[in-house]
Amino acid sequence: MFPDCRQAGYATFENYKNRHMKNTDTYRHLRGESVYLDDIPEVFGTLHALVYDSPIAHGKIKSIDYSEAEKLPGVIRIITYKDIPGENQIGAIIQDEELFAEDEVHFIGEPIALIVAESERIASDAKKLIHAEFEELPAVISPYEAKEKGCFIEAPRTFKIGDLKDGEKNSKYVFEGTAETGGQEHLYIETQGSYAVPKENGQITIYSSTQGPTAVQQITSRILGIPMNMIEVDVRRLGGAFGGKEDQATPWAVMVALAAHILNKPVKIVLSRHDDLRMTGKRHPYFANYRIGFSEDLKIQFYDVEFIQDAGAAADLSPAITERTLFHGNGSYFIPNAEITVFSCKTNLPPNTAFRGFGGPQGIFAIEAAMQHAADELNVPTYEIQKKNLLEDGDEFPYGQIAENAEAVSSWKAADKHFNIEKTYEEILKFNKENTKFKKGMSVTPLCFGISFTNTGLNQARALIHIYTDGSIGISTGAIEMGQGVNTKLKQVAAHIFSVPVSKIKLETTNTTRVANTSPTAASSGADLNGKAVEIAANKLLKRLKETAAEILHSKSEAIDIRDEIIFSQDKKTELTWDKLVSDAYWKRVKLSEKGHYATPEIHFDKTKEKGHPFVYHVYGTSVTTAIVDTIRGTYEIEEVKIVHDFGKSMNIFLDKGQVEGALIQGIGWLTTEEIRHDEKGRILANALSTYKVPDIHSVPKIVDIKELETEGDKHAILKSKAVGEPPFIYGTGSFFAVQNAVKAFNPNYKPDFNAPITHEKVLMGLYQD
Ligand code: MOS
Repeated sequence: MFPDCRQAGYATFENYKNRHMKNTDTYRHLRGESVYLDDIPEVFGTLHALVYDSPIAHGKIKSIDYSEAEKLPGVIRIITYKDIPGENQIGAIIQDEELFAEDEVHFIGEPIALIVAESERIASDAKKLIHAEFEELPAVISPYEAKEKGCFIEAPRTFKIGDLKDGEKNSKYVFEGTAETGGQEHLYIETQGSYAVPKENGQITIYSSTQGPTAVQQITSRILGIPMNMIEVDVRRLGGAFGGKEDQATPWAVMVALAAHILNKPVKIVLSRHDDLRMTGKRHPYFANYRIGFSEDLKIQFYDVEFIQDAGAAADLSPAITERTLFHGNGSYFIPNAEITVFSCKTNLPPNTAFRGFGGPQGIFAIEAAMQHAADELNVPTYEIQKKNLLEDGDEFPYGQIAENAEAVSSWKAADKHFNIEKTYEEILKFNKENTKFKKGMSVTPLCFGISFTNTGLNQARALIHIYTDGSIGISTGAIEMGQGVNTKLKQVAAHIFSVPVSKIKLETTNTTRVANTSPTAASSGADLNGKAVEIAANKLLKRLKETAAEILHSKSEAIDIRDEIIFSQDKKTELTWDKLVSDAYWKRVKLSEKGHYATPEIHFDKTKEKGHPFVYHVYGTSVTTAIVDTIRGTYEIEEVKIVHDFGKSMNIFLDKGQVEGALIQGIGWLTTEEIRHDEKGRILANALSTYKVPDIHSVPKIVDIKELETEGDKHAILKSKAVGEPPFIYGTGSFFAVQNAVKAFNPNYKPDFNAPITHEKVLMGLYQD
């Protein structure tokens, strides 16, 4: 399953010494020694908090009686909006969300109060003693209804290129249809949590399981009405996040900070899985209406698509997620005439939030559905149509950026060469002719994903490096380690520049007092942004150390080289070692600490025109998926996913392949088994792992073959190693179409719709539809 990339026929880039190193946390993780939020030793006297939340989706709060709960022994205090010294407002992009509901509740799970007690058990007993009366108001559960009623988060946005009328004129074939994708639960293994410890003079230290420590600091400052410099946020690592802790880790942190501030005691909260599932937002469900036109030779002439996004009850990150849908509406294709519109609709459900891909996958699914639709109607293999329309250098994206170093065609060709797309198709046809009990289907998924925060201002990062007198190195950045291995990559960057072993380098916690004003670790950009900042700081230190070495060795700094901790002068090995050089530099009073600041060059975007150059580069790839359906039971398996992926020049192929594998399985889960449903009252039906099916070992394809596309890399990627967090999530798309094609092979009457996830139940219905 994990072919060694050093085998013959595979691209090899032995450019980095540590290319095959494991995540430096691996052993601690396996031994259970890694420290997560709930493992932080508690200060004596720590109190525990639990949220009292809305039981209804929409209504006025008539009265709440806390008196019985407050009387329970061990209950310290119940905190509500009335206790907030600052502003009761946690909205980041749009200020439309209260920390604690005041007069009205807008979704089930909306926080109303915080119960602070001596133990979580006591808090939970107290919760049952709170009596509230609501006046229920009509709840909008469907985004369609929201759209009809004009309930929007913001005005709809449209990206336009060319002229639809021109496209229409040149089209021989036009297809119109709908495509839907459902929500998705993040299911980070570590649930949301935070621990706030009051310090002297009204200062406060917050440990938070967050992707965005600065967001926690900013919102805490707003709620508490104290300046940001009074608040220190510290993060060791997260037990997974996937976007779910970009914005939605904040409220819990702010709540315990508020309690700690009021009580002058340490206060901790860790959400139970049930609370987390009920109260937090998911991936946004999307509903798309599309029209697509093709010329006689099957080139796309126009694409007109309107997305209805279910944003939930508050903006959260929805405006930014809307943007990424618009940016990925064209998928991997060149479309000369397009109009892509997103309506961000407000419903009475928990605010939906960031989730790996951030609206991109929803946009890409719709165009892939349209391609499949065309192929079904024209009775040609889908890949024939896809192949003809891939983006090439010089093509314009609907947002005005021109494709450069586009690897859409090259990755497709490489996939075809390695995996033979047509032969796969023929073999499946043959299999389907010979078999009735099982049918197979295949699909090809091209990938094109833009790298950079679409909000240009966020594309900056800082790093702080200390070299200690013994030669060991400590690095602080704004990056959050959430299992993706960013700390390992950052160590590699410094090890590469200094030419010292990775073991000499320590990654400090992410702390707002050491590195301030950080962007969240998101948008696949953690390693690029923070890595570039480390690179800048390390190069400054290296320059000074070389000058010092030159002085000691009576040489010139240009002639100095450090190789594996040995100092070379004019290519000749000297007696001077890294440790000795550092110690000498200290006694010569050379500065051994340095900061690096990086701001991504070349990017810009003009929202008034919806045009610009928002992405520093794109990541490409092509995957070939095959699925097999049991035509009696309606069950299916994803047999193979074979991928050619554009890693640039991967600096750590173990981590990077791990990201591709994880993203792939997460994408497969989204489109096959994971189904979030609410009843008409807005109650989540998938409120436990017994009713929400996450991918398990049976969802994992029998074969996952990941090959590296041979490329030059990209100078804006850290060490030319491209961002890898979100893009490969798109490969999961293939599972939907492969399964659907297998159903088609069995039932000629099957009328495929593009309504994901394609659960086993839907497959069974499809097999016997008449
Ligand atoms: Mo990520 S979905 O950009 O937190």
